[in-house]
This record gives sequence, structure tokens and C-alpha cells, in this order.
Amino acid sequence: MSIRRTILIIDDDADSREVVREALEGKQFDFLEAKTGEEAIELFTAHDIDVVTCDIMLPGADGIEVLRHIKEVKSDAQVIMLTGLNAVDTAVEAMRLGALDYLTKPIRLKELRVVIDRAIQQKELTEERDEWRRQVARYSGRLLGKSPAMKRIFHIIEQAAPTRSTVLLTGETGTGKDQVAQEIHEQSRRSNKPLIKVDCASLPESLLESELFGHVRGAFTGAFKDRKGRFELADGGTLFLNEIGEMSAGAQQRLLRILQDGELERVGSNTTIHVDVRVLAATNKDLQQCIAENKFREDLYYRLRVVQIHLAPLRERREDIPILAQSFLERYSEETGKELQQFDHDVIEFFLSYPWPGNVRELQHAVEHAAIFAQGRAVTLHNLPEEITRMPVSSVSRAQDSAQIIEKYENSIVIPIGSTLEDAELEIIRLTLEKVGGNKEEAARVLGLSRSSLYRRLPKLAQNDES
Ligand SMILES: Nc1ncnc2c1ncn2[C@@H]1O[C@H](COP(=O)(O)OP(=O)(O)OP(=O)(O)O)[C@@H](O)[C@H]1O
Ligand SMILES: [Mg+2]
Repeated sequence: MSIRRTILIIDDDADSREVVREALEGKQFDFLEAKTGEEAIELFTAHDIDVVTCDIMLPGADGIEVLRHIKEVKSDAQVIMLTGLNAVDTAVEAMRLGALDYLTKPIRLKELRVVIDRAIQQKELTEERDEWRRQVARYSGRLLGKSPAMKRIFHIIEQAAPTRSTVLLTGETGTGKDQVAQEIHEQSRRSNKPLIKVDCASLPESLLESELFGHVRGAFTGAFKDRKGRFELADGGTLFLNEIGEMSAGAQQRLLRILQDGELERVGSNTTIHVDVRVLAATNKDLQQCIAENKFREDLYYRLRVVQIHLAPLRERREDIPILAQSFLERYSEETGKELQQFDHDVIEFFLSYPWPGNVRELQHAVEHAAIFAQGRAVTLHNLPEEITRMPVSSVSRAQDSAQIIEKYENSIVIPIGSTLEDAELEIIRLTLEKVGGNKEEAARVLGLSRSSLYRRLPKLAQNDES
């Protein structure tokens, strides 16, 4: 326990108060003492009190009245009732009013210590939940996180957002790249201008160029009239290029020109147009690998990466899991009209050990699913989607397992039945060349061929690729 706590001891008997103080010896507590109910209420109102021990039989306002008052003023204060009589009825009433527990006199020190420890734990829990609530309310639908990795990202966003620099967002699927792009735009001076998003992977090469840069009438079949591209539409604002690794060479060249000079020509036109656009780009590919494979321009890479934000996979920042889960729960609880408030402990435990290959998006969907099936106020393990609970998890080793499986998969070649030997041979050559970044000598070595036999097969390969 790091914070110093304040405890209010309410008892008309000096010896009893002494017993409580003794029980707390060596702990980080500040003490306040009250002899009557009135005095207790006064002290409670004037100070920030975390834990209360309260005798039930008091002169003036009795313990039950004091408890009722305390819970009204500060519902998360933890109150432990002490009673001299064997008054079960009164104790039950106290519990109903929100007392944490009750002990009968004479007080046993050990018992009292246990109850007070529990009171502190309870207090810490409610404080943490309130902190989430505050964060959630403040950032509803926004970027959340408390891990060092996310804090660093908040800091970078704050620094980079007001500038014009290009930002490159990297990270696995579902880690929040879109969300960060949005946040950067909103925190920038361009926030009242459009944020336009283009998914480079979803359009064929030919269309992507005209989509981004526009075209003039007759530029290609089907270009019936002049059309503005997304860059022109985003003028003054921000353009978010998703899956930038999928851009064709032509589009990359045009993009580089815009980043350097702020100039573009529509497809099929010679007229230069000036635009003022801030570019954000995202990818879950390894761009350096793409450069090695000659699929991505190195100069463009350096232009884009003036500021780079890498979003770590969720399994590497588990501290973010509870707050994200809680915020999604509140969102879906509202949407479903249920009064879901929390997760059972074993749910959070499960969340923390599960490797989340789909990252935040997968967590969000799991909570959405759970919210639909949950009954009552808490989400239980049974409410989670079967696909994820079915998986036996021993977190880290599991994550490594899947990484190995993926790697194995990516390093293998699939040749469908029905292929001829020649097809198979060419496929093996093609993929090996790809894997070694086009280095023919290296490929020949891996394939166990002489350089000349490899070279002899290359024209065939080119022919095959064209068909
Ligand atoms: N830190 C975060 N705080 C709150 N919500 C988040 C956070 N990170 C991600 N999300 C939410 O998780 C979902 C997936 O995030 P997002 O679409 O930004 O991922 P992505 O990295 O762009 O994924 P992909 O590579 O598949 O496009 C979104 O609904 C987003 O709002
Ligand atoms: Mg995305």
C-alpha cells in the first residue's frame, strides 16, 4: 500500500479505541477519534476518510445513524461495525446499509487486522474502478491505455499532432492504427477540415491512382469526366493512407512528389495542382522487407517515417487490457440496455492470459459478444465467445507457439495437386527468389542449382508470371 490512509475510530470507550489503534500499529495510517455520533459526523464531513471503525452503542446518535450518514456522504468509505451486545439484528441492519463487516466485542486483534486489510483492498478496488470510469468518460470512443507503451504514444501524439509532419503508423492488425490516426487529426489544427481515409489494399492498382490523384476526362476507358482525387478533397486537412505497403510504383512516385513539393497532376493531365495535405500512413507489413524486395521505395519510406508510431501487440501491454475491456463493457452495456457493471475476476484473469492475436479489435468483439449473453450485472467466463475460451492458454508459451506456427507457415510453399513438375519447379524458384529479396546468387545456392541453370529458367518464369 503506497498511499497513506486515514481511519476514523468511533467509540465512547477509550480502551476500545486504544485496541483499534494497536491493531493498526506499524501500518501507514493517520488516526482520527470520535467519542460521540455527532463528533464522528463532524469529523467525517471535514476530513477525507478511507476507513471507519464504528461502535454501535454510542451516546447521542447511535452507530447505525452514523453509518447511514457516512454512506450518504461518501459511498465508498469502508465501515466496520463493532458491537458489544450480541445484537445480530443490528449487525444485519448495518450490513444492509453498506457496512463492510461487523465484529463483536471483545475485539480480537488478529480478526480486526484481517478486516481492516480487506477494507483497504476494497477501497483500492473502488478507487481503481472510479479511475477507469473517469478515463472512460473523458475519452469515450477515444484512445485508452495506461501501459508505458501507450503513455509514450500519447506523448508522441501530443508533440506531433500540431505539426505538419508525416506520421507512419505500424503494428499488427487491430492494435489501434486507425484510432491513432483519428486522434492525431483531432488534436491538430486541421481538425475542422476533413480527415479522409483511403484503403490502398482495397482498390486495384489502376483505380488507386485515379482515386488518390484524380483524373481528367478520357484519361482511360471509363473516365467520362474530370474527377478530383482524394488529395484534392482533403485539401487543408489530413489524408490517411491505410495499407501503404500495397501502393503501386506509380502511386508511390506521385505520393513522393506531393510530400516533397505539395504538387500533383491528375491522371492524364499536365496541369500542376497545389495541395496542402497532411499525410498519415499505416501498414501492418514490414516496409523494410518490402524495400529489400524492391516493392517499396526507400526514399518514400524515409519521407513517411519522419515520425513513426509503433503500436505494440496487446499481449505485450497487458496493463491496458482491463481499462479497454471496461470501456467496451460500458459501451455495449449502454447499447444493449443492460446494467452490466463489471467482469468476474476469472474473466479478467482470462483476459490477461489470453494472447489476443487480433489485438484490441478481438478484445472489443469478445466483450460485445459477452454483453449480449450476460445476465445480471457481471460478465462471467461462460459469456465469452467459445472460440477464445476453448483455447487452452498458458499465455506466453502459447504466444510463442503461434509465432512459430505462423513462421513455419510463411516459410513453406504450397503446391496444389494437379500442378506439373515444371509448374512446381517454377513456383519453387519464384518464391525462393522472393524470399531472398531477388538475389539470384543466393537463390541458386538455396535451390542447389548452378547460377547458369537458374538463369536458364528465368525467362520461363517471366513468361509464366505474365500469363
Ligand atoms: N488504445 C485504444 N483505446 C480504445 N480503443 C481502441 C484502442 N486501440 C484500438 N481500439 C479499438 O479497437 C478497434 C481496432 O482498432 P483499429 O481499427 O484502430 O486497428 P488497426 O490497427 O487500424 O487495425 P488494422 O490493421 O486491421 O486496420 C477499433 O474499434 C478501435 O476503436
Ligand atoms: Mg486500420
